[in-house]
Amino acid sequence: MSDTPPRYASWTQGKLPLPELQEMKRRGEKIVMVTAYDAPSSRLADAAGVDLILVGDSSGMVMHGRESTVPVTLDEIVFMTQWVTRGAKRPIVIADMPFGSYETSDEQAIGNAVRLVKEGGADAVKVERGGTSVARAKAIVDAGIPVMGHVGLTPQTATVLGGFKAQGRTAGRAKELIADALALQAAGCFAVVLEAVPDAVARAATKALAVPTIGIGAGAATDGQVLVWHDLLGYSEGHAPRFVKRYGEIGAAIVDALGRYADDVRSGAFPEEQHTYAMPEAELKTFERT
Ligand code: KIV
Repeated sequence: MSDTPPRYASWTQGKLPLPELQEMKRRGEKIVMVTAYDAPSSRLADAAGVDLILVGDSSGMVMHGRESTVPVTLDEIVFMTQWVTRGAKRPIVIADMPFGSYETSDEQAIGNAVRLVKEGGADAVKVERGGTSVARAKAIVDAGIPVMGHVGLTPQTATVLGGFKAQGRTAGRAKELIADALALQAAGCFAVVLEAVPDAVARAATKALAVPTIGIGAGAATDGQVLVWHDLLGYSEGHAPRFVKRYGEIGAAIVDALGRYADDVRSGAFPEEQHTYAMPEAELKTFERT
């Protein structure tokens, strides 16, 4: 880990300015994004020099043990965004709009995006898919809230896509996917996530788009990368997707620490004197007499 975050042309202190992302793309500097769901994690991501933090609806799966992101509610994302924005000072914090919070109408989308910014403290929001989401993205941008797009494998509609599997693997689907990304850019999105798409498709999309692309399972050509906190730190239950690289074994470290704690409690080795409160001598004597 570097001691200090990289120096940016237009950044000296405080929040990373949103237009800097476009500058980073222009300069060929990779953008680093990670998910986080609470204050200590976002503080650590900030300390590590991460540029973007996503309060992802992946929380439903990695934090709350659900089978998919679909049941995640707006209230949950608002609540977690409040924690994350307390911990992260420099990174731009993006709150995911969960399934059902933006599909119905522009009014619904704007109202819920406003909640994420006003109550959660998010700097920006993210919507999944092209199609009807393009108009929603435009409506939210027009209301003054920055929007990140997300195409390829969009977990909120994984059932329609045939499950959690790579997208854009035929020439036709690849073209549609890039058209969706371009439409989101035209709607005003400041960046687009490309999830689980072939390297060649991500490369073409990154070339076609003026705004940065952030890849997850999309190869090395995208302008930035995002991984889910629990996957990258080895804190996940079950099998991680093939695009995940584990940079830590936090789950194993926790089991080890808890096992040692349990042993110490059972053997009486914990707590020791240093973990225990004493009483003034005179009070103790009175207490023992009465
Ligand atoms: O919810 C999430 O964590 C995401 C990322 C995988 C991009 O959408």
